[in-house]
Amino acid sequence: MVVGGAGYVGSTSVETLIGAGHDVVVYDNLSTGHLASVADPVAFVHGNIGDRTRLEGVLRDKAIDAVLHCAARSLVGESMTDPGLYYRNNVAGGVALLEAMQAAGVTRLVFSSSAAVYGEPRRVPIAEADRTEPINPYGATKLAFEGAMRWFAAAHDFRAISLRYFNVAGATERNGEDHEPETHLIPIVLRVAASEATHVQIFGQDYPTPDGTAIRDFIHVRDMGSAHLLALEATGEGEPSLEVYNLGSAAGFSVREVVEAARKVTGRAIPARVVKRRLGDPPVLVASSRRARRELGWQPQHSKLEEILADAWTWRTAHPRGYARPEPSEVAAPADGDRPEAERVQRQASASA
Ligand SMILES: NC(=O)c1ccc[n+]([C@@H]2O[C@H](COP(=O)([O-])OP(=O)(O)OC[C@H]3O[C@@H](n4cnc5c(N)ncnc54)[C@H](O)[C@@H]3O)[C@@H](O)[C@H]2O)c1
Repeated sequence: MVVGGAGYVGSTSVETLIGAGHDVVVYDNLSTGHLASVADPVAFVHGNIGDRTRLEGVLRDKAIDAVLHCAARSLVGESMTDPGLYYRNNVAGGVALLEAMQAAGVTRLVFSSSAAVYGEPRRVPIAEADRTEPINPYGATKLAFEGAMRWFAAAHDFRAISLRYFNVAGATERNGEDHEPETHLIPIVLRVAASEATHVQIFGQDYPTPDGTAIRDFIHVRDMGSAHLLALEATGEGEPSLEVYNLGSAAGFSVREVVEAARKVTGRAIPARVVKRRLGDPPVLVASSRRARRELGWQPQHSKLEEILADAWTWRTAHPRGYARPEPSEVAAPADGDRPEAERVQRQASASA
């Protein structure tokens, strides 16, 4: 079961899991995800992660043997102004999932954690054993849930893996990134390339980096899919434990390099303007993924910047409005059997309840 499987990372990982021959159930409340990203033969259950009883029922009814948990609120700024939303969704919701798994006898779990657990790193590349000191509620809730996983592993024989992602980008043919608001660099740059915004804002050009702009680590979403598959397989053996792995490329690209590469890939001008640094933006955030490579056998295949950008651009140009349906003015009045999205979700929800 992929919780949050209608979202960006979840939906693309579902493709990898289906490709590897697994049966997949997606459990999602569609708060930021898209029903259109869930396709046959995947079963969809419309539900909230905080609904422990519902989760337990689905885990039993669908005979689930492992869970990939990608559901979260994940906007740093929003977490600063509404921490309750983040603790309720990312921590309390996560604990409801753990309890439902325990009750249903499901003990294999892979979790989408984040580089935000490290806060401002003391050294780069960042390794898993480095100090974790989040500087926002988003990172704090990811770390808190890792703690819950660790104690469930000890008390209830869970075999759990937490994957700390750095920046995920790119797309598959079917699924891509469609967030509102969008806060990730690559889709923002491509919005400018598509003339949906006038320019890219570069936050600070006075960092101690070769071109003065901040450096970040990007992984192709396809490579996240293979990491999830390997991690899920790894939970099938061994002692109860929580293992933690960074997922990044160890390379890192500056914001200017990303904009420049996007100009080449798209053939568009992509105007950029330098503005002041943002508070809490470290100069360099790059992961050491040696542990994931060594222990999980993970080998990113698609994470060259040009490939990430080219795939994201291809998806974007094929889906200019993301997953959005046509504007009401562009479609005829609904006929029988042609129901609005919300109603369709409701029907699917009751069908799978
Ligand atoms: N995208 C990145 O670069 C990145 C980087 C680091 C960590 N992560 C983590 O990876 C995970 C997936 O990120 P994403 O970019 O795909 O986000 P996303 O918003 O596209 O996907 C999250 C999915 O979870 C669902 N969801 C949220 N709250 C829920 C709830 N209470 N009950 C049921 N479903 C719920 C949403 O509807 C959505 O489908 C998140 O946990 C995020 O924190 C992502």
